[in-house]
Amino acid sequence: MTQTYRITLLPGDGIGPEIIAVAVDLLKKVGQQLDLRFEFQEALLGGAAIDATGSPLPADTLELCKNSDAVLLAAIGGYQWDTLPNDQRPERGLLGLRAGLELFANLRPASILPQLVDASSLKREVVDGVDIMVVRELTGGIYFGQPRGIFTSETGERRGVNTMVYTESEVERIGRVAFEAARKRRKQLCSVDKSNVLEVSQLWRDTITKLAADYPDVELTHMYVDNAAMQLLRNPKQFDTIVTGNLFGDILSDAAAMLTGSIGMLPSASLGSSGPGLFEPVHGSAPDIAGQDKANPLAQVLSAAMMLRYGLNEPQAGDRLERAVLKVLDQGYRTGDIMSDGMTLVGCKAMGEALLAALED
Ligand code: IPM
Ligand code: MG
Repeated sequence: MTQTYRITLLPGDGIGPEIIAVAVDLLKKVGQQLDLRFEFQEALLGGAAIDATGSPLPADTLELCKNSDAVLLAAIGGYQWDTLPNDQRPERGLLGLRAGLELFANLRPASILPQLVDASSLKREVVDGVDIMVVRELTGGIYFGQPRGIFTSETGERRGVNTMVYTESEVERIGRVAFEAARKRRKQLCSVDKSNVLEVSQLWRDTITKLAADYPDVELTHMYVDNAAMQLLRNPKQFDTIVTGNLFGDILSDAAAMLTGSIGMLPSASLGSSGPGLFEPVHGSAPDIAGQDKANPLAQVLSAAMMLRYGLNEPQAGDRLERAVLKVLDQGYRTGDIMSDGMTLVGCKAMGEALLAALED
């Protein structure tokens, strides 16, 4: 019997609609090949949702997402919404979705594809062979801590406040995801914090250290976040799996992404303990190139591959998409962000066609 999956698509803003269209075509094709049926339902998120409904996360979007097997998101945000008050911005829609689906674990792999070693801004010998998994806590920390807001004191001075807070159980559940991930990789886990300054980080470190007793096969190290940022640029090959909080993970995952040449290549998976996962590229909505057929759809396609692998447990289908990506790179197709000498510059659509052709065999 044909397996049917209900997928909620969130094209979002900027280049979102262009890149998600590429992934959808590929999913349909891989579905035909492997006898999987995808029922796609599209919903509004971010700026597109603000324009249509006034809210960055309309209630029916969250409902549709909850009632699906997986959610595939492109990207949200854009200049025209940048001046809105913080709680009405597109980003709030994404954060609300992560919280609403309780997606506390964000997996952000950053590995160098041999075809793109020269697209990195770092020297070949530094980045060649890099293969890192950043496990970022996604529904806690300073992104969600209370109190938060901009308050005015009696003297009339304004004060901006956010709170970095983690409970032991929040650290423990992301820690377990990270130890498990490391177990499936090279069995090295580096926990990143700022425990030389922050109490919240001391609790983080204590909790992760305790947890290590359950994973004797995984080698645990700790690193301060400033040093981790430096080490990622100095010697990224020392890292296998990294686990860290929401804000540090946001920053370090961009740095790790850039090792690979372009943030346009990096997928991510956000998972909870049950319910549908959310799969999205690490990059943003790139409003500067939106609608110009210049976007790199590969991170979106690789996010669809992660959806197949981690969200739907269809690793074979995920493999196919990943192989198609490697193949078009082998064939020399490059979008502008990963272009190098001697390669063939293509737009988003042409990259999509090349990927479809690569799926054929
Ligand atoms: C990311 C993004 C988001 C974040 C923004 C868009 C809210 O930078 O997914 O890394 O900070 O988490
Ligand atoms: Mg980010």
